[in-house]
Amino acid sequence: MDVELGSKELQEMFHQSEDKVMVNHGSYGLPPQVVTDHRFKLLQEQDEQPDVWFRLNMNKYYHEAVDAVAEFVGADKEDIFVIDNATTGINSIMKSLKFKAGTKVLMTNHTYLAVKNTIKDIEEMNGGFQRIFVDIPVPIKSEGDIIDLYEKYFSTNVDIKIAVIDHITSPSAIVLPVERLIGLCRKYNILSVIDGAHAPGQVKLNLNEMQPDFYVGNLHKWVYTARSTGFLWVSPAFRGTIYPPISSNYDQTMHHRFAYMGTRDYSAFYTIPVALQFFKDVGGLEALTSYTSGLLSWAVRLLCEALHTKPLDIPSTMKSPVMAIMSLPPLPDGVRDLTADQLTVDFWLKYAVQTCFTSFNDRLWLRISANIYNCKSDYLKLRDCLLHFFEMNPKD
Ligand SMILES: Cc1ncc(COP(=O)(O)O)c(C=O)c1O
Repeated sequence: MDVELGSKELQEMFHQSEDKVMVNHGSYGLPPQVVTDHRFKLLQEQDEQPDVWFRLNMNKYYHEAVDAVAEFVGADKEDIFVIDNATTGINSIMKSLKFKAGTKVLMTNHTYLAVKNTIKDIEEMNGGFQRIFVDIPVPIKSEGDIIDLYEKYFSTNVDIKIAVIDHITSPSAIVLPVERLIGLCRKYNILSVIDGAHAPGQVKLNLNEMQPDFYVGNLHKWVYTARSTGFLWVSPAFRGTIYPPISSNYDQTMHHRFAYMGTRDYSAFYTIPVALQFFKDVGGLEALTSYTSGLLSWAVRLLCEALHTKPLDIPSTMKSPVMAIMSLPPLPDGVRDLTADQLTVDFWLKYAVQTCFTSFNDRLWLRISANIYNCKSDYLKLRDCLLHFFEMNPKD
């Protein structure tokens, strides 16, 4: 496809216009029209003949989706399972693992809430897990600081048996050195569960080389599938041991279990091949992230200068190519007590601009995203709205 990134043509494919601005692709993703069209075609096929769809067609589409994901993430198809989202993947892994009561699970102060809640639920239900948190302080000077921090925890807490590690953190957009952390887990005989909700489409994945114990990723965020679509990678050592919600396919192979979890609409899963083709057609990983990281750095400078704030200070190797966070000026009266989620919705309702407020280290931050349909004018509008929201004078 011969299309210029950031062009009008791409904005139209994603239904973007000047009167509504989307600079928060990171939260829920956004599929282009070609993917939505394909999904509608699949829905039509499903509704025309549900019996044939559920008993026959679905199986073929599931395996085509698995093959496409396996190729994209450098994995064998025996190890890949298509799932709804990272939440389902983490639940499936953690609820299937058999560990004795009190087993320690290590997370961080940047871990996503759904993941923390999953471990908490298992802890409260049967005392199976005990949560420990690594506090990753910011600013970060080097990847080595993160490795040293984990090593300190691993060497002084012999009961840690599982580490849930973000590939790219959600509230802070930090790319963690997962390959080195997986090596460290191996050294201390700790299972590595990598939460890669944000990674596919942001960084190159080769799971056969990376070799964690488990990896979950979302595809509806950065590779343009319809919602909800993600994948689970299970290392060969755990083949057959992981369960999604229990269905009639309980005692069959893992692919059978994940391909059918009861009657529901699976059409989003089968948009994977079309979405991955779109991802390739618009330029592939290198071209896309080179465009977005350039636009993102420009936008961060623009906003920080206008708001007199600072971007998160982390090494360039740990910066996401599509998301960045920055500190906020003091919140005005009236919105001071709002949560990050409330501020995000409030901001959209007031200005028709979708950006994202996040929270970690007991404070609020602004997280912006850049995608192939974004261009400089989106961030100029965001800047003007932020100045109004924070009751700041542009000339201050
Ligand atoms: C790091 C991380 N883990 C897990 C999730 C949960 O993803 P989902 O809501 O698609 O299950 C997210 C969502 O943004 C995330 O950023």
